[in-house]
Amino acid sequence: MNIRSIGSGDAEAFSVLRREVTRENPVQMGLSYEEELGRTIDSFREQLCFSHPNTMVGCFMEEQLVSTAAVGYTSQFPSSRHKMVMWGVFTSPRYRRRGISRRVVESAVQHAFGNGVHRINLQVYVPNEPALGLYKSIGFVEYGVEPEALYLDGKFHDGVHMTLVQKQA
Ligand SMILES: CC(C)(COP(=O)(O)OP(=O)(O)OC[C@H]1O[C@@H](n2cnc3c(N)ncnc32)[C@H](O)[C@@H]1OP(=O)(O)O)[C@@H](O)C(=O)NCCC(=O)NCCS
Repeated sequence: MNIRSIGSGDAEAFSVLRREVTRENPVQMGLSYEEELGRTIDSFREQLCFSHPNTMVGCFMEEQLVSTAAVGYTSQFPSSRHKMVMWGVFTSPRYRRRGISRRVVESAVQHAFGNGVHRINLQVYVPNEPALGLYKSIGFVEYGVEPEALYLDGKFHDGVHMTLVQKQA
């Protein structure tokens, strides 16, 4: 298992993994498989072009990208630099329940807190017991719900907001 930051050079691998996950979990990924297929490699190259400390952590098994988690600022202004949003958390269905996401998410969390971030926020489209369980086990707590955050295949899905604050030393 190789865990490292990923960037524009990993755009194709990122797209392959996203398609594999979205085919099985469109609601949890927040878009339909057809919408995912419409996304271009160039758009991923752009999305994965991070300026520090924004980053995406990836886990590779036998040189194949199997899991990711990203953290990034929500604004360019210093008044919002105490917080980051976590996004892009998913693991290939072929590699689940091995503790891979836990390691990748924890690595992204440590990166954010190590760079002076005080709080990390994220949103989970529900139902998604695996993700809620993963985040709760790391210390995230729920702080609200966006009603009908997603509309997919004729159904509304709420978005559960979760937050994790850096513990004082
Ligand atoms: C959620 C997801 C990222 C978890 O990935 P994973 O690598 O299987 O997770 P891990 O093996 O690291 O599990 C860590 C913890 O998450 C929880 N968890 C993971 N899968 C679970 C499941 N199927 N049911 C209940 N809890 C689960 C457990 O608390 C687990 O700890 P444990 O194994 O000690 O019980 C994965 O299921 C996934 O990619 N789902 C589709 C995309 C998605 O939902 N992304 C999150 C968007 S917010």
